[in-house]
Amino acid sequence: MDYDTTDIPAAYDRGRDHGPEVLRLWTDVVSSYVGGRRIDTVLDLGCGTGRFSEALAARFDAEVVGVDPSKKMLDQARRKRRDRRVRYELGGGEAIPLPDDSVDLIFMSMIFHHFDNPTLAARECRRALRDGGTAFLRAGTRERISSYPYVEFFPASRPLLEECLPTGAFMREVFESAGFSTVASDVVVQVIAPGYAAYAEKLSAGADSVLARLARSDFEEGIEAMRSHAARVGGRAVCEPIDIFVFR
Ligand SMILES: C[S@@+](CC[C@H](N)C(=O)[O-])C[C@H]1O[C@@H](n2cnc3c(N)ncnc32)[C@H](O)[C@@H]1O
Repeated sequence: MDYDTTDIPAAYDRGRDHGPEVLRLWTDVVSSYVGGRRIDTVLDLGCGTGRFSEALAARFDAEVVGVDPSKKMLDQARRKRRDRRVRYELGGGEAIPLPDDSVDLIFMSMIFHHFDNPTLAARECRRALRDGGTAFLRAGTRERISSYPYVEFFPASRPLLEECLPTGAFMREVFESAGFSTVASDVVVQVIAPGYAAYAEKLSAGADSVLARLARSDFEEGIEAMRSHAARVGGRAVCEPIDIFVFR
């Protein structure tokens, strides 16, 4: 998807920022897989608004290069940049604008399903990564659709998710055919809202590329259904399972 043709960039952080605890959860998970290896340079591929970039710089005391093809997403990232170890560059997975063997860790969050050519992107990751480096993929998968917390409220999202989300097996196959070994695959559960009312507000921001494709009426019905559900069940935390794959 070309995010520059959408209104998602301005809304992204409002809908997708889950706070410092969730960021810490993710930097802990990534850190647990780098095997004590010194990380000097991180590529945050498809960094978007830089949701993870500064946290990665702080966690590894490393230089982070955030790469994304969307000027509007990068504008958002640059606007909030505080950490001088982080820089943002225009580019995509299929042509990573970095030299061979130049990064120790590639972090990819929610971008695999956006690659035009996943095989080429995986080869580019192999080229840019130093030997022994780690590629960490955080992704939605087709097999997990039924457990995504918004799906039951937006039934029209299911066929769109089935069409755009890859299977875990496909992602592994793509990276393995580019010369990587899969060292781990797991599911991490994150808390994305304190309750369904707050979740409905987050989704109303319009930051989700699948929900953005729904008819306005389907979207509004889903938000209403979620608010009614919130009124019935009260403030029960909303959790989301995220698949992770670690390649070396
Ligand atoms: C759902 S956002 C994820 C952003 C960020 N990684 C995060 O988790 O917050 C998807 C991002 O992938 C980017 N993208 C789209 N096509 C891409 C490609 N071929 N290579 C790298 N990134 C791409 C989009 O511009 C967008 O910023």
